[in-house]
Amino acid sequence: MARVTALTLREKKQSAERITVLTAYDFPTAQLMEECGLDCILVGDSCGQAVMGRADTLSVTMEEMLHHVRMVSAAVHQPLVVADMPFMSYQVSPEQAVTNAGRFVAEAGAQSVKLEGSARGFGPAIERILNAGIPVMGHLGLTPQRIHQLGGYKVQGRSRDAREQLVRDARELQALGCFALVLEVVPADLAEEITAALDIPTIGIGAGPHCDGQVLVTHDMLGFGRRAKHAKVYADLRSAMGEALKEYVNEVKSGAFPGEEHSFS
Ligand code: KIV
Repeated sequence: MARVTALTLREKKQSAERITVLTAYDFPTAQLMEECGLDCILVGDSCGQAVMGRADTLSVTMEEMLHHVRMVSAAVHQPLVVADMPFMSYQVSPEQAVTNAGRFVAEAGAQSVKLEGSARGFGPAIERILNAGIPVMGHLGLTPQRIHQLGGYKVQGRSRDAREQLVRDARELQALGCFALVLEVVPADLAEEITAALDIPTIGIGAGPHCDGQVLVTHDMLGFGRRAKHAKVYADLRSAMGEALKEYVNEVKSGAFPGEEHSFS
């Protein structure tokens, strides 16, 4: 099977085929996702909370993200790998943005990058990255890197002004050349309106059923993370893993492990 590309995702929207996206931060998880036919893997800065024990995403660094993107890129040949640009890796200047986006592609094997925010804030940065030949995924709505400004993890786009602004922002990101747009925690009818207004695919998280695709933080959907309303738990792997770990502890203490079959003569 050929690699999914930014263009493939657009074709999927045109043919009304839903797009599947999940986060991954390591080799075995990404490998399994490829085996399961996932379209796109986002190496999200959500790794700060999901696997690093941080309170938010703000302290995640370029070097940490590069480490995770390398592991994921090494694991897969088909899904599109999107590297999430961490806080303060693109906000300073367009030069800083293109340099860091380039590192994700050249040093870590990603095929695209994602950054949070509007064209008003980051138009020049997005243009510089696109001019370098790197596809950019936009991200609007609840943008966790602005958490202090937003005042918490709240639904965005509830007022009429905020709704209209989000529709404008989405159109502007498309006009700049973004290949897809993440809509995070916005009302479902607003996501529907934006999805209908754009030619590029929308990828929703907490944005209802009308987006062209869906993304979840994998640790949330496997029972390791936050119990957020939008994050359906598909399996409680935390409990299953806990059972296995307890059994190991008990068997080592009792002498039941290792058995003869695990020992060498
Ligand atoms: O960092 C991340 O995982 C994300 C998704 C929640 C869209 O940005």
